Amino acid sequence: MKRNILITGGAGFIGSHVVRLFVNKYPDYHIVNLDKLTYAGNLANLKDIEDRPNYTFIKADIVDFEAMRRIMDEHGIDGIIHLAAESHVDRSIKDPFTFARTNVMGTLSLLQAAKEYWETLPEKYDGKRFYHISTDEVYGALELTNPEGIESPFTTAASSEHHHAYGTEFFLETTKYNPHSPYSASKASSDHFVRAYHDTYGMPTIVTNCSNNYGPYQFPEKLIPLFINNIRHRKPLPVYGKGENVRDWLYVEDHARAIDLIFHKGTIAETYNIGGFNEWKNIDIIKVIIKTVDRLLGNPEGYSDELITYVTDRLGHDMRYAIDSRKLQKELGWEPSLQFEEGIERTVRWYLDHQDWMDNISSGDYERYYEEMYKER
Ligand code: NAD
Ligand code: TYD
Repeated sequence: MKRNILITGGAGFIGSHVVRLFVNKYPDYHIVNLDKLTYAGNLANLKDIEDRPNYTFIKADIVDFEAMRRIMDEHGIDGIIHLAAESHVDRSIKDPFTFARTNVMGTLSLLQAAKEYWETLPEKYDGKRFYHISTDEVYGALELTNPEGIESPFTTAASSEHHHAYGTEFFLETTKYNPHSPYSASKASSDHFVRAYHDTYGMPTIVTNCSNNYGPYQFPEKLIPLFINNIRHRKPLPVYGKGENVRDWLYVEDHARAIDLIFHKGTIAETYNIGGFNEWKNIDIIKVIIKTVDRLLGNPEGYSDELITYVTDRLGHDMRYAIDSRKLQKELGWEPSLQFEEGIERTVRWYLDHQDWMDNISSGDYERYYEEMYKER
């Protein structure tokens, strides 16, 4: 079946994996990648597919409603996978306005453009999809009731061998929204707008909330690529607070596979949580990263431990995120494919083998931003 699919934020980390998957897997689909190319957007992420006949890139800002409306019309868009966003919590603490602008106003502008365009068609919303990609951070923070970790009651192929849960509660699709950071507040607001367009106008929407992703092409301001890069350059590894915060990590290609499945088979107006039951304390995952980088660089074990530097905690730092993704497993049969130990090995290897990619983006403006952030701590 021919389809014209708009993917926003396709030059970013997760978006580039989604674009690559769709361009390769669906030669009959026309994939339109729309991205503003902010500091986080990088067309080098898509070098391998940029010349494909079923792929078009458009540089545009989702906040620009007239442009969104025109693009919907020009390309006859019948499906939208919306990933474009400001995505880094630390930046949102420094500059919340940019987050409200892109994440809230941008999502609204895209919703309204889709609504107006689809309402001009004889079949209206029939066969259409507006799929909004969100985060588990909208649910707020869980408590660390088991700081030493207990055997997790749930497991998937992505769970680590150590397989701990650090509390008894997990985020469900029914968990009440309780965002704390300007980032999660802006994502929560955009999620509400998406649901409002379904409930008010009958727009065929879907929302998914995923846990922390890791893998190739992630911008090196996020924990894993930042630390790999800093170890390589023997720079300090800034651990916020005591390093006890817990995150639930999923390999990015497994997220992209879930997005593909939900886009095609998910039920309209539903929410699905995406995660691999793979909780890690920051300090423990940092030790795994150090060990893996040192081994792959041929350094003696423990060589880079001295780089660990405890710094002032992030303001309002959420303690624990842990996703319950059993609904997606049960209803659509999604299972992650990659175990954490293999995923982290693949990820570290990728960054070490792609030093040119890292050097290109971590120069200039970003380097200055990062130095400033670090000085403040
Ligand atoms: P990213 O920061 O790597 O990429 C975001 C992309 O959006 C960039 O290419 C950027 O240029 C583009 N963009 C930003 N503002 C724009 C605008 N105004 N108009 C058009 N394009 C714009 O982010 P990511 O980590 O790939 O996250 C993608 C989406 O997934 C986000 O919506 C994020 O909230 C969500 N998410 C991320 C994670 C994670 O762990 N990274 C987890 C769950 C959900
Ligand atoms: P991050 O990758 O920014 O993702 P998020 O805040 O969306 O979960 O951070 C992951 C965890 O690592 C989070 O608890 C904050 C912590 N962290 C550090 O300790 N040091 C750092 O330099 C960064 C970037 C994050």
